[in-house]
Amino acid sequence: MNDLLLLGIETTCDETAAAVVLRKADGTGEIRSNVVLSQTDEHSAYGGVVPEIAARAHVEVLDNVIGRALREAGVTLSDLDGIAAAAGPGLIGGVIVGLTTAKAVALASAKPLVAVNHLEAHALTARLTDAVGFPYLLLLVSGGHTQLVSVTGVGQYVKLGGTIDDAIGEAFDKTAKMLGLPYPGGPAVERAAERGDPTRFAFPRPLTGRWEPDFSLSGLKTAVRLEALKIAPLSEQDVADLCASFQAAVVDMVADRVRAALRLMRERGEKPTALVVAGGVGANQAIRKTLHKVAAEGGTRLAVPPPALCTDNGAMIAWAGAERLALGLKDDLAVPPRARWPLDETTKGADAGGSSDR
Ligand code: KG4
Ligand code: ZN
Repeated sequence: MNDLLLLGIETTCDETAAAVVLRKADGTGEIRSNVVLSQTDEHSAYGGVVPEIAARAHVEVLDNVIGRALREAGVTLSDLDGIAAAAGPGLIGGVIVGLTTAKAVALASAKPLVAVNHLEAHALTARLTDAVGFPYLLLLVSGGHTQLVSVTGVGQYVKLGGTIDDAIGEAFDKTAKMLGLPYPGGPAVERAAERGDPTRFAFPRPLTGRWEPDFSLSGLKTAVRLEALKIAPLSEQDVADLCASFQAAVVDMVADRVRAALRLMRERGEKPTALVVAGGVGANQAIRKTLHKVAAEGGTRLAVPPPALCTDNGAMIAWAGAERLALGLKDDLAVPPRARWPLDETTKGADAGGSSDR
């Protein structure tokens, strides 16, 4: 297998991103450029991402973002071995913009196209940053997803547990909105929590102690809202204490659910080489600190990409594209964009139309 140089394009949510990544023959990787243009300002007035605004913004800036990624890497299209784009899951308008652009670039440069599942890209990032080997336990925690997944190879994902209601990032975002903190909520809640008392409010930790590694966030979210209403008007200290108590509940819940998943993996006869955390919530320091302990207790190690590679970016798409291309997996120009695309339908060798392995 040769070195592979990939361009990666990410437009599934509110980041317009492109990157150039090298995957060396020995399986290690190198980021040559990583350009991320966040649309936070366009959406902050609405307290969340507005799909129509996001799609239009991607159209306006994507050409420039790709141009910058190539320039910063010091390469031209002819130096590349393939073009990767996130083909879903995500906001369909944005996905169409990114995937269609990738198709045009692939066609014009006569390079192979790799349609990447955005979740798979999050799942494989730790192999780029930490050279993690298979199998590993993946905790995927973002604005739209909360899953525990056994990863035994590229394209081999078995979901062990997931959320039965809200995603963890979504709970952070909704809590922030409720307390008048800015969007995106995760970083704002984490900052406020630093000045707060995590023991002031005893919020529920739903599903902890259960054997199946599932999550439930809506009861916690409701508890925060009821408490906030009860003690309104909120002082700055009240907001900090609510955030700290909310975050403490999330941390306990995540620790308990990850322990359950590690147990389950062992029962399946799989010995995880690492606990890998991926997705925007992985940027949270309190969660990282606790998972460090949980991993050590479970006889494994924690591998979390740096915060900038936990949130959406083009490098993870380029890397996932390279991992697939290294196995000979590529897609034809008819590959469709997908709003919904569960990770465990991204099987090795499956066509990007997605064949279920369940
Ligand atoms: O992976 P990502 O960038 O986009 C999705 O694919 O969803 O994740 C964004 C999510 C948002 O819900 C955001 O509030 C959350 O990750 N997030 C955080 C932190 N930074 C981002 N949540 C908790 N603590 C953080 N520091
Ligand atoms: Zn994401």
